[in-house]
Amino acid sequence: MPPLFDWQFAADPYPAYAWLREHAPVRRTRLPSGVEAWLVTRYADARQALADPRLSKNPHHHGEQGAHGKGKVGIPGERSANLMTHLLNIDPPDHTRLRRLVSKAFTPRRVAAFAPRVRELADGLIDSFAARGEADLIHEYAFPLPIYAICEMLGVPREDQEDFRTWAGMMIHQPGSPRGGVGRAVKRMRAYLAELIHRKRAELARTGSGDDLISGLIRASDHGEQLTENEAAAMAFILLFAGFETTVNLIGNGTYALLRNPGQRALLQRAVADGDEELLAGAVEELLRYDGPVELATWRFATRELTIGGRRIREGEPVLVVLAAADRDPEKFTAPDTLDLTRQDNQHLGYGHGIHYCLGAPLARLEGQTALAALLRRLPDLELAADPAELRWRGGLIMRGLRTLPVEFTAAD
Ligand code: HEM
Repeated sequence: MPPLFDWQFAADPYPAYAWLREHAPVRRTRLPSGVEAWLVTRYADARQALADPRLSKNPHHHGEQGAHGKGKVGIPGERSANLMTHLLNIDPPDHTRLRRLVSKAFTPRRVAAFAPRVRELADGLIDSFAARGEADLIHEYAFPLPIYAICEMLGVPREDQEDFRTWAGMMIHQPGSPRGGVGRAVKRMRAYLAELIHRKRAELARTGSGDDLISGLIRASDHGEQLTENEAAAMAFILLFAGFETTVNLIGNGTYALLRNPGQRALLQRAVADGDEELLAGAVEELLRYDGPVELATWRFATRELTIGGRRIREGEPVLVVLAAADRDPEKFTAPDTLDLTRQDNQHLGYGHGIHYCLGAPLARLEGQTALAALLRRLPDLELAADPAELRWRGGLIMRGLRTLPVEFTAAD
């Protein structure tokens, strides 16, 4: 079997996933953290597991919890920063209540109204490097865009957004960021968000106004269903956390895939020039399927014995659904290893499935489409400025994306 989770694996995990799908589609595997988990790699099994109510999101169901498994599942730092009660760690009925609350604030209308601002942010970032004729698209484009976008949606004042950029950089070990670990960044973010929620609540009580997502959350929770301060902080945090590195990697992996597939890139470039929004939307879905940012869905734990793909999973055992493997399953997709931006009926699992289906998908789509369209329109002769074999990938357990993406183009006057 090809090795899993070594440094080469992050650069191209797909041969190993193909092997697993074929020979051991549900396989118990020791992860780099030492935790043993079942990896589910076929599309049909993955889709079923994502929606199976016997698989809990609550880490308390982890059999190893409390012993040496403690702290090895979930987001680093969330335990010590008291941020455990968020959507990705809870089951119904708490999940139903919190998801309903946040859905009232995070509406498709709010996201649609934000479109002009995302375009402005994308153009502003391109302006900052267009005259140089070269750039690192991760550091200067894919990384700052989602962080500024989500900060603005939440209502983080502009003067504080650089702090978020720093903390976010610490969380994903971005080159040039202060060293000091994910835990410290998470704690600082948490303290800041608690303070901001306090301020917004007072402002809302005083003036009745507040148009941002945090004010929307407070307002939604004040109509009957209560949101505790801790839940509000955890909610704001998970919106930031879930919506940040994912979108960085969508823009980064997506641009890279286009640069490596010139025919498809030319197709998209023409569509963007012609204002063909349908092709653009389909293209972003295909880029998610082909090399999506979320490699494995977040942790699930068996609350009782169950069978997936013929394998018996015991109570307390962790299950990881490998979205990136499922989305290349030849049983589901024709020519799965080919990037086809016009692919029809593309039911990829890049945003998950079931009750934990990505809440931020409309925002992610908006950011992905806007970012790629702006790049292709503004820098039409964009080219990769590095040997693909030299590029380094950031492969955590859940997320996978490029550390840097050096590009060249004709400098703007
Ligand atoms: C959940 C993918 C962007 C917020 C998820 C899940 C996936 C995913 C796969 C399900 C995880 C599971 O079942 O274990 C992505 C991708 C994105 C993206 C590929 C970008 C391309 C965003 C954005 C936001 C966001 C921009 C918010 C601002 C969330 C939240 C959940 C979630 C809150 C938890 C939902 C729940 O548990 O009910 N996302 N996401 N995501 N995502 Fe996203």
